[in-house]
Amino acid sequence: MYGELASWFHLVTAPADYADEAADVVRRLAGHGVELGPANPAATILELGSGGGNTASHLKTFAHLTLTDLAPPMLALSTTLNPECEHLAGDMRTLRLGRRFDAVLLHDAVMYMTTEADLRAAIETAFVHLRAGGVAVFYPDFVAETFRPSTEHGGHDGSDGRSLRYLKWTYDPDPTDTTVVTLFAYVLHEADGSVRTLDDRHVEGIFPRATWLRLLAEVGLRAEVSVDAWEREVFVGVRP
Ligand SMILES: C[S@@+](CC[C@H](N)C(=O)[O-])C[C@H]1O[C@@H](n2cnc3c(N)ncnc32)[C@H](O)[C@@H]1O
Repeated sequence: MYGELASWFHLVTAPADYADEAADVVRRLAGHGVELGPANPAATILELGSGGGNTASHLKTFAHLTLTDLAPPMLALSTTLNPECEHLAGDMRTLRLGRRFDAVLLHDAVMYMTTEADLRAAIETAFVHLRAGGVAVFYPDFVAETFRPSTEHGGHDGSDGRSLRYLKWTYDPDPTDTTVVTLFAYVLHEADGSVRTLDDRHVEGIFPRATWLRLLAEVGLRAEVSVDAWEREVFVGVRP
C-alpha cells in the first residue's frame, strides 16, 4: 500500500475522516503549553511517518508542518493534498534534520516499530527535534494491555471513478513477541470497470504501556499516558 498502491491510499482511509484526530492533537498540545493557531502563528510541527498526509491536511491550518515518511510514493500522494507543506523522505528511527520544532507527531505510523530498539530510536528522533518545552504526541493503535484481535471493513469511492473496498484482519500469532500481523484484502475497482483483488501483510509492533513510559523517560521526555475518544492510549512527552 505504501509503494505501488500508494495512489489508492485515500480510498482506504479518507482525509476528511481525520478532522477529529487533528483536533485531538491540537488540544493535547495546548494542554501541555504548545498553543497553535492565531495565538502562535509561527508554530512548527514535525510529523514522523506522515503517510498520505491525512491528519496533516487538518493540522496545517494551525501550524507550519514538516512531513516526513520512509516511502516516496506516500510523500508524493501527501504533496497532492498538502502542497503548501514541506515534505522530506526519512526513516523515523534515524532522521536528523538539525532543526527543532514546537511539536512532533507520531500517529499510527509508530505501529511499524516492531522491536523495542526501533521504538526507542523513533522516540529519540522525536526528542532531538523538540525545542525545550516542546511536546511529542504518540498515537499507537493499541498497547499490549488493550490489544484485541479484530476484523473490520471499509473503503471509499474516488472522484476519479476508482473505488476501493477492504477487509482488515489483525491478530497476534505469537503473544510472547513484540509483533502482531494485520492482513488486508483489497478490491480495487478501476475507472474503466475492471476489478483486481490483492492482499497485503503488515507486521506491527505491540508493547506494554510500561515499556512505552520507560522508553519515553529514558530518552529524556517527561511522559504521561491518557485515553482518547477512540479508546486508544495516547502518550505525550514534554522535553524539559
Ligand atoms: C498508515 S500510514 C500513516 C498515515 C497517516 N497517519 C496519515 O495521516 O495519512 C503509515 C506510514 O508509515 C510509514 N512508515 C513506516 N515505517 C516508517 C519508518 N521507519 N519511518 C518513517 N515512516 C515509516 C509508511 O511509509 C506509511 O506511509
